[in-house]
Amino acid sequence: MITYKLFIDGKWVNSNSKKTFLSLNPANERPIGKFQSGNKQDVDKAVQAAQNAYKKWKEIPPPKRGEILLRFAYLLRRHKEELSRLVTQEMGKVIAEGRGDVQEAIDTAEYFAAEGRRLFGHTTTSELKDKFAMTIRMPVGVFGLICPWNFPTAIPAWKILPALICGNTVVFKPATDTPLCATRFVQLLEKAGVPPGVVNMVTGSGRDVGTPIVKHKDIRGISFTGSRETGEFISREAGIKKVGMELGGKNGIIVMDDADLTLALDGIIWGAYGTTGQRCTATSRIIVHEKIKEKLEFMLVKRISELRLGDGLKKTIDVGPLINKAAVDKSHNYVKIGKEEEARLLCGGTQFGKRGFFYTPTLFTDVASDMRIAQEEIFGPVLSLIPIKNLDEAIDVMNGIEYGLSSAIYTKNVDTAFKAIHQIEAGLTYINSSTIGSEVHLPFGGVKGTGHTKEAGILGLDEFSEVKTVYVDYSGKLQKAQID
Ligand code: UN1
Repeated sequence: MITYKLFIDGKWVNSNSKKTFLSLNPANERPIGKFQSGNKQDVDKAVQAAQNAYKKWKEIPPPKRGEILLRFAYLLRRHKEELSRLVTQEMGKVIAEGRGDVQEAIDTAEYFAAEGRRLFGHTTTSELKDKFAMTIRMPVGVFGLICPWNFPTAIPAWKILPALICGNTVVFKPATDTPLCATRFVQLLEKAGVPPGVVNMVTGSGRDVGTPIVKHKDIRGISFTGSRETGEFISREAGIKKVGMELGGKNGIIVMDDADLTLALDGIIWGAYGTTGQRCTATSRIIVHEKIKEKLEFMLVKRISELRLGDGLKKTIDVGPLINKAAVDKSHNYVKIGKEEEARLLCGGTQFGKRGFFYTPTLFTDVASDMRIAQEEIFGPVLSLIPIKNLDEAIDVMNGIEYGLSSAIYTKNVDTAFKAIHQIEAGLTYINSSTIGSEVHLPFGGVKGTGHTKEAGILGLDEFSEVKTVYVDYSGKLQKAQID
């Protein structure tokens, strides 16, 4: 088995710790590679390299930095099939979604490459004569990027590429469950011509690598996607850094009594069981009008029973495994909690197969909004159906959670749709489509307990740049704002 290395200052090196860990294929539990268990010394070296590289990198004109990103996009395209298979092998999503993951990385690379020719600030007027006012974007410095495993190429792309185009250098910590995807990603960045020290990668645990990154005094910015718990830890420990985070969701779909139920059914199945429920944007609550509840339950159970579980590399498979044993235990524990809370289990709720981390697509009904299964992020294929009587109640249920990432409503009534857009507290609202499937040129992020950062799209640049305000006085005399 191959032992992979850390990437520091343009070189592939062993960790100081002399320890390694394995990455497993969650569909069959076979190891697919050995990786360095990085530690604080490795982080220190990576930060030093990033700091040194920053001086030159920030002076490269952004359109030239964009050329490197474009070359990277081209390489990703050339290796798309290989990378997609790797995403499926290491993370478990079905192959079509593996391709989607890599395509999202390609789209992101192309989008931010072109930002090199924009990176707009704005100009405005001055209250004084012969004085000019504008804003420009400045890089922040060294960024620590802490990534999850559920989009092993797309989310690193969301973070690394805007960081680079803005002129920052980075220390990238991939999730311990997907270090091979991260390694391939960084190898292609290297091949695309990213100079030594601009991108550094340290694999290893949250405790040994993540914490030293978060606390490092020379890191100026942190971008994190992951759990609420870790997000709270970062908020406490990061000190005065520019911190961006996205901490998950408890996303709901409202199905009104005038909805096209076949369309809603497709959206629910895709949102709840696609990627085995392991998206921050996954649908985990169906908020359904009581008039159509039974009909929808019936349709859901039939469709869920037809879903085929297995190794996502096979074309015939609809739902792949969960990422690891802990994730199976977590889903199963929530099924127990749901039963104790007296929600009604309609299907699923069991482990599946002898090998691999499979869990059957699960549906609870008659769930009350305040039950734990309707409040807490499960990050697995466990869906709760909550009946409601009207739109006001639906919105109360939708908003009655700590999180605020994604949301959707199925209705044919334009007034209902616009009321929902206006009243739902979430970073994303979809009308007549599922809670998943954002596009890279629009901002993505949440409100409330999800965090308040926008990634991707033009607002995604704000996370990785500082705005400088510039005044140019060409009057040749002292002019006093607010006084003259
Ligand atoms: C996530 O799960 O953290 O909208 C990101 C979507 C994807 C991104 C999800 N484009 O589902």
